[in-house]
Amino acid sequence: MKEQKVTIAGYHVGRVGYGTMQLTGPMAMGDPADPEACKTVLRSAIEHGVRLIDTSAYYGPEIANRLLAEAIAPYPDDLLVATKVGARRTPDGGFAADTTPEAVRSAVHDNLRQLGLDTLSVVHARYMPDSTVPFEETVGALADLRNEGLIAHIGVSNVTLELFKGAQTVAPIASVENEFRLGHEGGRDVLDAATQLGIPYLAFRPLGNGALVAADSPLHEIARHAGVSAATLALAWVLDQSDTAAVIPGSSSPEHLTADLAAQSFEFTADLREELARLEMS
Ligand SMILES: NC(=O)c1ccc[n+]([C@@H]2O[C@H](COP(=O)([O-])OP(=O)(O)OC[C@H]3O[C@@H](n4cnc5c(N)ncnc54)[C@H](OP(=O)(O)O)[C@@H]3O)[C@@H](O)[C@H]2O)c1
Repeated sequence: MKEQKVTIAGYHVGRVGYGTMQLTGPMAMGDPADPEACKTVLRSAIEHGVRLIDTSAYYGPEIANRLLAEAIAPYPDDLLVATKVGARRTPDGGFAADTTPEAVRSAVHDNLRQLGLDTLSVVHARYMPDSTVPFEETVGALADLRNEGLIAHIGVSNVTLELFKGAQTVAPIASVENEFRLGHEGGRDVLDAATQLGIPYLAFRPLGNGALVAADSPLHEIARHAGVSAATLALAWVLDQSDTAAVIPGSSSPEHLTADLAAQSFEFTADLREELARLEMS
């Protein structure tokens, strides 16, 4: 039987979480068309047992955190809200580095205020290639904030193996959040290293922003034979790669959440593993 839960930052949570990025407007900026529908999805996630939510003050910006707080606070004691710092939004909807110690401090305070929390359970330092600040300095800024009690654990995001190792020389790293999915397996060295160290790995964009479940995805046929949806299969594939991996798909639909959560209990057969290994994903 595969592990259905993983311990992250002291929280024993189901391995299918939820990401808030797409709750906000196009390109994760601006107000959503229907804020109440967003809150309904968030409450539905909690009702269905999701206990890992990934968010950030720069989603919206502010809007995703605000929706989360309005929908769910007071938060269940067993809910892990994971946040990120290190980026700011650009007017065209992109992300730019915001990695100085001052920016990190300010972003942690933004997250605390928007989420209505006294302490952030885990904050991921997002590596930004355009940053002029060494990544270890950004992680060091989080270590200072942890010493002050504003955050409990430090994670890293968008890291290479070298950055991951460097961060561990600065502070204990409680989790890694990197992009990983079927057909996007670059960075497996980081997943493997995290697994060996027993550090949980949060796979972001596990459905390729919907590409793995699009009408032309070859996963549909295989999933149908397996008796599940393509989303369930794609997420279960990630969970099958490491017992300490979790996925944080985003969705605007309570029905889709149910399919996503089914990945937690889906058991792979050797044949199915081989079939997916042979699949050419674009
Ligand atoms: N650390 C980082 O730098 C970073 C970067 C990017 C993202 N992230 C995190 O990763 C999270 C997920 O990434 P993402 O939202 O970009 O992409 P994703 O989770 O790979 O894909 C989301 C898309 O999949 C669809 N979907 C979800 N479940 C489905 C189902 N059961 N059936 C059919 N379609 C389904 C959603 O459509 P519906 O709305 O119709 O369900 C949505 O369009 C983000 O919210 C964010 O928290 C982190």
